[in-house]
Amino acid sequence: MVIRDFEPRDVEAIVAILKANQQYGHEEIDGPEAMLRVHQCQAAEFLVAEEDGHVVGMARGVYDGSRALLHIISIDPKRQRQGTGKVLLCEIAKRFKARGATDMAVTVPGEVGFWQRYGFRVTTRIMLIHPIEKVCDL
Ligand SMILES: CC(C)(COP(=O)(O)OP(=O)(O)OC[C@H]1O[C@@H](n2cnc3c(N)ncnc32)[C@H](O)[C@@H]1OP(=O)(O)O)[C@@H](O)C(=O)NCCC(=O)NCCS
Repeated sequence: MVIRDFEPRDVEAIVAILKANQQYGHEEIDGPEAMLRVHQCQAAEFLVAEEDGHVVGMARGVYDGSRALLHIISIDPKRQRQGTGKVLLCEIAKRFKARGATDMAVTVPGEVGFWQRYGFRVTTRIMLIHPIEKVCDL
């Protein structure tokens, strides 16, 4: 397995994986254009796992100079429980540490078992508003 930075040619495969895992929410947040914006963002780490030339998983997060926040890991359902999530988690943590991060948070909409396996504990709530215009009538 190869872990490498996201490339624009990975978009289609990642959309398919996110949809299969029911992690494809809003087009403007999870869609192809958003992936290309993340790719251009200096603060972001956007990794893919590739096996035999096929994308089988992805991980995405940001380090803002103080805190690292992992937004998502998503593995092709056919490839889950074969160690891919672990390798992506370890690589993105390594990248954040190299930038200076001393801790890492993760947003987890579903099960917490995988994260607990690697020592994450549930702490603060994450609160969400969408669309952003609802904030003070922007
Ligand atoms: C959760 C997910 C990222 C884990 O990746 P994975 O490649 O399937 O997991 P791995 O094979 O790397 O598992 C590594 C370890 O975590 C454990 N683990 C994996 N998924 C687990 C779960 N749901 N509950 C408890 N433990 C889990 C494995 O048993 C393994 O432990 P071991 O080394 O002691 O055997 C992946 O299954 C996935 O994409 N799920 C759907 C989307 C999702 O929920 N993403 C996370 C929220 S962003």
